Amino acid sequence: MSDTDRELRVSKIRNGTVIDHLAAGQALNVLALLGIDGSGGESVSVGMNVPSDKLAKKDIVKVEDRELSQSEVDVLAVIAPEATINIVREYDVVEKKRIDRPESVDGVLSCPNRNCITNDDEPIRTRFAVLDDALRCDYCGEIVREEEVATHLDVA
Ligand code: CTP
Ligand code: ZN
Repeated sequence: MSDTDRELRVSKIRNGTVIDHLAAGQALNVLALLGIDGSGGESVSVGMNVPSDKLAKKDIVKVEDRELSQSEVDVLAVIAPEATINIVREYDVVEKKRIDRPESVDGVLSCPNRNCITNDDEPIRTRFAVLDDALRCDYCGEIVREEEVATHLDVA
């Protein structure tokens, strides 16, 4: 049985996005990033710790009828730089995006500093500068280490 056949443990999708080659353990963070908790009615398939050619084990997330916004791709680039984003239309992969590390991440993370202006009642879009291994709030300078990013996802 080929590796491709083995991957079929998670069904192919007709239209949508396949986020592939996620490090094992990242699937749930990706679902949090996308705001998917099952209540939105989307069809989502998740594979965790599935065998992979490129990684010993990988996670994979398939979301039907959805393409990712640039902000979502940007934060994905920070928490899962090894991921591949595949856009699927009528069962074919029509686009494969390698994700580039962004200069900033806008509107998807909340600042851990409770006194930060972005945590006041005023609706201010958050913005973090991407440093080598951390992010820095543009408004208050608070540092969020890369491994903490997933816990500050601002999911409504
Ligand atoms: N896929 C899917 N539904 C489709 C087409 C593809 O779920 N209709 C998934 C495949 O299972 C795979 C990913 O999308 O996990 C990428 O598909 P493809 O480019 O065909 O596979 P590979 O060539 O193995 O990809 P890569 O080179 O990125 O490993
Ligand atoms: Zn801040």
